[in-house]
Amino acid sequence: MTTETTHVLFAFADLAPDTARRVEVAGHAVAVARIGDDIYAIGDTCSHAEVSLSQGWVEPDDCTIECEAHGAQFDLRTGEALTLPATRPVATYQVGVVDGMVVLTLDGTDTGAAQ
Ligand code: FES
Repeated sequence: MTTETTHVLFAFADLAPDTARRVEVAGHAVAVARIGDDIYAIGDTCSHAEVSLSQGWVEPDDCTIECEAHGAQFDLRTGEALTLPATRPVATYQVGVVDGMVVLTLDGTDTGAAQ
C-alpha cells in the first residue's frame, strides 16, 4: 500500500510566471516552476552536478528549465535531460493548485532520486 501525503507549499500568485522556486518537502529538494497558469515540479538538483535548478531559467516556449551552471536543459513535464552536459533525468512530482495554493503530493514511492 502506498501512502500519499499532500503538502501545501505557497500561494500560486506568489510565484511569478516563468520563474521557479526551490522548496524542501519531506527530505526532497524540489524545483516548483510556473508557466502561465500551469505549475510543474521536478527534482531541484541538477543531475550533472550539485546545482539548484530553480536558480536557472524557465523557458516557457519549450516547457524547460535551464541549469545556470553549464546550461543543461530539463523538460519540466518529464524531468528528462534534453541537452548536455546532463545525461540523466531528474525526478518529477505531482503538483497542482488547490484554492489558490500550490500543493505537492508525494505518493510514498518518491525517492527524490532520478528515475
Ligand atoms: S550542474 Fe547543471 S549542467 Fe552542470
